[in-house]
Amino acid sequence: MENLGLNDIREKYLSFFEEKEHLRMHSFSLVPKNDKSLLLINAGMAPLKPYFTGLKTPPKKRVATCQKCVRTGDIENVGKTSRHGTFFEMLGNFSFGDYFKREAISWAWEFITKILKLPEDRLYVTIYLDDDEAFEIWSKEIGVDESRIFRLGKEDNFWEHGVGPCGPCSEIHYDKNIERGIIKTVDEFIKAGDDDRVIEFWNLVFTQFDKDEEGNYNRLANPNIDTGMGLERMATIMQNKESIFEVDTIRNILDEVCKIANVKYDENSKEDVSIRVITDHIRSLTFMISDGILPSNEGRGYVLRRLLRRAAKHGKSLGINNAFLYKLADVVIDNSCGNYPELSEKRDYIKRVISLEEQRFDETIDSGMQILDEFMNDMLEKRQTVLSGKKAFKLYDTYGFPIELTEEILEENGMSVDLKEFDEEMDIQRKRARAAREETNYMGTEDTILNKIPLDIETEFEGYNNIEYTSKVILLVRDEQFVDSLNEADDGIIVVQHTPFYAEMGGQVGDTGYIYNDSFKGRVVDCKNNISGKILHFIKVEKGSVKLNDNVNLAVDEERRNKIRRNHTATHILDSALKRVLGDHVHQSGSYLDDERLRFDFNHFKALNSDELKSVERLVNKTIMSGLEVNTRIMNLEEAKKIGAIALFDDKYKDEVRVVSVGDFSMELCGGTHAVNSSEIGLFKIVSETGIAAGIRRIEAITGFRALDFVEGKSDLLKQAAERLKCSDKEIIHKIDLQMREIKEKDKQIEKLNAKLAGGAEDEIIKNVKEINGIKLFTGVVKDVEGDALRTLADKVRSKGGDCVVLLCSIANNKLQFVAMASKNTLAKGVHCGKLIKEVAAIAGGSGGGRPDMAQAGGKLPEKAYEAVEKSAMVMETLVK
Ligand code: ALA
Repeated sequence: MENLGLNDIREKYLSFFEEKEHLRMHSFSLVPKNDKSLLLINAGMAPLKPYFTGLKTPPKKRVATCQKCVRTGDIENVGKTSRHGTFFEMLGNFSFGDYFKREAISWAWEFITKILKLPEDRLYVTIYLDDDEAFEIWSKEIGVDESRIFRLGKEDNFWEHGVGPCGPCSEIHYDKNIERGIIKTVDEFIKAGDDDRVIEFWNLVFTQFDKDEEGNYNRLANPNIDTGMGLERMATIMQNKESIFEVDTIRNILDEVCKIANVKYDENSKEDVSIRVITDHIRSLTFMISDGILPSNEGRGYVLRRLLRRAAKHGKSLGINNAFLYKLADVVIDNSCGNYPELSEKRDYIKRVISLEEQRFDETIDSGMQILDEFMNDMLEKRQTVLSGKKAFKLYDTYGFPIELTEEILEENGMSVDLKEFDEEMDIQRKRARAAREETNYMGTEDTILNKIPLDIETEFEGYNNIEYTSKVILLVRDEQFVDSLNEADDGIIVVQHTPFYAEMGGQVGDTGYIYNDSFKGRVVDCKNNISGKILHFIKVEKGSVKLNDNVNLAVDEERRNKIRRNHTATHILDSALKRVLGDHVHQSGSYLDDERLRFDFNHFKALNSDELKSVERLVNKTIMSGLEVNTRIMNLEEAKKIGAIALFDDKYKDEVRVVSVGDFSMELCGGTHAVNSSEIGLFKIVSETGIAAGIRRIEAITGFRALDFVEGKSDLLKQAAERLKCSDKEIIHKIDLQMREIKEKDKQIEKLNAKLAGGAEDEIIKNVKEINGIKLFTGVVKDVEGDALRTLADKVRSKGGDCVVLLCSIANNKLQFVAMASKNTLAKGVHCGKLIKEVAAIAGGSGGGRPDMAQAGGKLPEKAYEAVEKSAMVMETLVK
């Protein structure tokens, strides 16, 4: 048996099945499309579901993939064992109604015994209890000794998830320890599996039934094959390793973790857990980010955040104090980019996203610590030693503070956490998440009539060169049912053979317009594709009725379409302009455009400054003014790649792709509708630039008359401002500056006048004196003297009054302010302004306090101001008696 690297095994597998006439497809994104049952792709068959259910026609009936997968169900065990991981690659060969059991079994056997050269005396096979057909093939046709074939029950050898396609399966197992003798009985076999002596490495699923709601297994006319082999697991076999962490490419990552942490693997079991967690999680992180997932507090983004925080936390346990995960991403990329070029293409981006999130986590730890401190103080006060699970969960859930850290810190302080309650909270959350996903069947599609439109119905888009078209009605839908006619006032869907209406796709909104004939008129309010790409017109019947097979005229709202075309071509120009101004790292991460505006999301790590924005806008406008021709060419994918058209994943398996170029300024694969010449766009104006997620910026822009309207609007605004300011628009700024200066001057004058007024008040106050035990008490109520001015006034009275106490109350904005001041000599006699003001302010619904020589307070009841001030003499008496 050859010691094959993980990358070699993958290649051997895919080329073997290519020789068996399979289409080798690139791994699909980890983000499921049109599948609400899954957060992340977790098996080779998952992205192929529409081909299994017949919702989509596969590019070929035989397909082989190596699919990147993430499973987080067992995340708590990752690291603790050497088997569990969140990221893995699954090799699979699939038949969509083509070959079946016989070929699936014999090719699997050929691959493992002839290509990988696994010794037959180490192999065992399991089949489903009553699958005699599989037994016959394995024993009679392949020649596997009957004693090596075990029959297992539903749990192990029947693949089903709720209703839908399902069937028996057959698994192939490898014996790592033949020295212990041949396994004879099913019980021995099961035990050998539990002991890790025998490992299952390939599951062949014979999808031959469709299970209905009543639990009947109906035989499928065209059964399918779905197989899955864990690449990492196979690599442990080929490399004779005990765990996936020892496999070549993964060991490279692990070694780097050890290097950064300055520790050795396999020396300390606690450290090993952390090393494995980091090694596994950085693989998931790197691949997930390359597929466009960003850290967030929900869904996939939360899974990503959680993996990153878990890895970062284990980094801290290993004594790594700085951000380090982003460096490890390099090792993942270097080891896998041969098969996943998207990794090296997005290297900088992936690293930036990771390092930003590492930083954020550090900040989180800081704020989490503060909250935990508060919890602990509270516990100390209440003499408690166990933190409630609910609080620990809040820390974990809202602040991303790892429970292990909470436990550790509490332990250091002689406290603990109610883990049972924490787990209960966790369970509740898991159930919520599951409930949110289980609205669909496991095949992931919504059960709507639109997904039941027969595949053999053809709808053609004719709208690249036409705004109007005549065609035949081939399908009508109303209230989730196929119907024969639609009548006046109905809302429904019309499907025709040929249509000029563009169905929403690639960020371009669907067309609107009218469908009509002599006896019918319907307004098209939207146009969309269903999952298999059939074009659906959503209409409101305004007049008459329409029947199946009627001929109808279809007319797109031309003015709206023209606006959309301009915005689409402008989006392409903007994409190119951004790359030229900001750098090649700019990649589109989303876009949307309709007749009003265009929105373009792209990765870049800081806000664009106004120079950059101006440069981008100028470059776009310059390109527009160059009057560049917009050309569309249909070519095969290889050609398109060669000439450098930007490839989008979904188009990869179409035989032909559409390449849209704007002169030699921009070239992209695109199915949208475009201007014929860049000059049609007229004017391009950026209206906003914002950040929408870590490392993702969004530009919104407008074109054509809308841009003109925008500019006109601004110019009108200036005109109005000039009119109000009574100047020309050139003088506006000068005029504003002048007026601001004037306002400042006036403010100063007001201040002076107030001081004067206060001066008048001063005399009043000085007149209003009482003497209490040899200390003078000056009091007064003043109006609209606030803050500093009030304190200054009190201070002035005090400096003039000798041994005295001053108590003032000011009424301003319907609120009260009190200030009390006392000269030094009075303090020895018992004067305390803090105590004085507290009682006085209380009368006016206020509170406050302060030092013996100076105190302040507020009050809410202006009508009590005088009463409160009066009371001060009595309070003084109690203080200085
Ligand atoms: N879909 C099967 C699995 O994931 C092959 O095991």
